[in-house]
Amino acid sequence: MPRAQTETGTKSAAWSDRRDTASAAATVSRTRDRYNGPMDDEIERILITRDQIQVRVRELAGEIVGIYGHTGLTIVAILHGALIFLADLMREIPFKMQIALMTVSSYRGATTQSGEPVLTSELSRGIEGQHVLLVDDILDTGNTLRFVQQEIERCNPASLRTCVLLRKTGKAPPEIKTDLVGFDIEDRFVVGYGLDYNNLYRNYPHIGVLRAELY
Ligand code: IMP
Ligand code: MG
Repeated sequence: MPRAQTETGTKSAAWSDRRDTASAAATVSRTRDRYNGPMDDEIERILITRDQIQVRVRELAGEIVGIYGHTGLTIVAILHGALIFLADLMREIPFKMQIALMTVSSYRGATTQSGEPVLTSELSRGIEGQHVLLVDDILDTGNTLRFVQQEIERCNPASLRTCVLLRKTGKAPPEIKTDLVGFDIEDRFVVGYGLDYNNLYRNYPHIGVLRAELY
């Protein structure tokens, strides 16, 4: 009967709507847990506090002034990890300088290297003939810096040096050259001060070890 069929059809549609709504709500709540809320509980241990970072960034800027004070400087920063380091470092440099940005991705959500580095956006400005200081957040296996240093050399800068905020002790092969290093750290997965896991925790002000059960 058309009417009964309609009623049955209407009833089952309503139930399935309710089920969809319930499962959508569960998804939203899981997503909220993962992507919202405080970060402190998710950090196992703070390795370097924001105050310690600030002191070291000033020292690094002093070294940069010593090297480039009379030559001019272009900082090439690797996004997104070096974003906060770049912003703090450049404001401690009291002479005129330029920046250029490039985006490199290799982690794709994992905490160990999961593929070759990929340039996801090209250098934002030309750097030919300029004195370049490459700035990155962390030297781990060295794959990213090897790749980026080659990319920059192809652009014929007048000189190229490299500065990293963090270096995981003894991991990268010695031919990966770093001229300035903020801190040597143990081989743990760290987040904060620009470093992320799944694009989260970049805004955590200290550098901390992420609780292992979260990745
Ligand atoms: P590499 O290519 O293995 O040297 O890794 C360098 C890049 O991987 C860095 O620029 C970071 O973006 C990322 N990375 C390596 N170790 C960590 C970590 O402990 N936390 C967050 N990101 C990391
Ligand atoms: Mg990076």
